[in-house]
Amino acid sequence: MKRQEYHFEFEVYESMEELAKEDAWLLDQAREVTQNAYAPYSKFKVGAVAKLANGEIVSGTNQENASYPVGICAERVLLSVVSSLFPKQPIDTMAISYNNANGESDQPITPCGICRQSIKEFEQRMNQPVRLILGGMHGKVYVIPNADNLLPLSFTGEDLKR
Ligand code: THU
Repeated sequence: MKRQEYHFEFEVYESMEELAKEDAWLLDQAREVTQNAYAPYSKFKVGAVAKLANGEIVSGTNQENASYPVGICAERVLLSVVSSLFPKQPIDTMAISYNNANGESDQPITPCGICRQSIKEFEQRMNQPVRLILGGMHGKVYVIPNADNLLPLSFTGEDLKR
């Protein structure tokens, strides 16, 4: 038996003001597009905005449904839009923000498990990491250089060939 270790580093900023200008702008866009979320059930509005390798800016928001499991997270809406409109374009950076029923949030959220799986496969397809900027409407911001880090020991298309 041997023990294996998994380790990754990410950046923690006290607020958006500490970010590089371009990153602050992208996070601000993610905050802005939360308005486009359709979240009448959870009242939890999530906005994701990506800067693509070709410089295009693309956004996604969570879209819920009266049949709850039909709802889809902002991150996967975004990935679908990118794949459909710009099929060969890697995502350089994705910013994600959110707010609750009071329109407030002061802590970063990280993508759910299903979204981590989707982002990871997108990275593999494009052969390029997706950098994440995570923040609420206020407060601390996390910058994760490689979304892949959020899903260690994951199941991938390679496993289907074994
Ligand atoms: N949601 C997202 O869009 N992204 C996340 O990272 C976490 C959760 C959505 C799904 C659902 O519409 C609502 O937030 C509450 O879970």
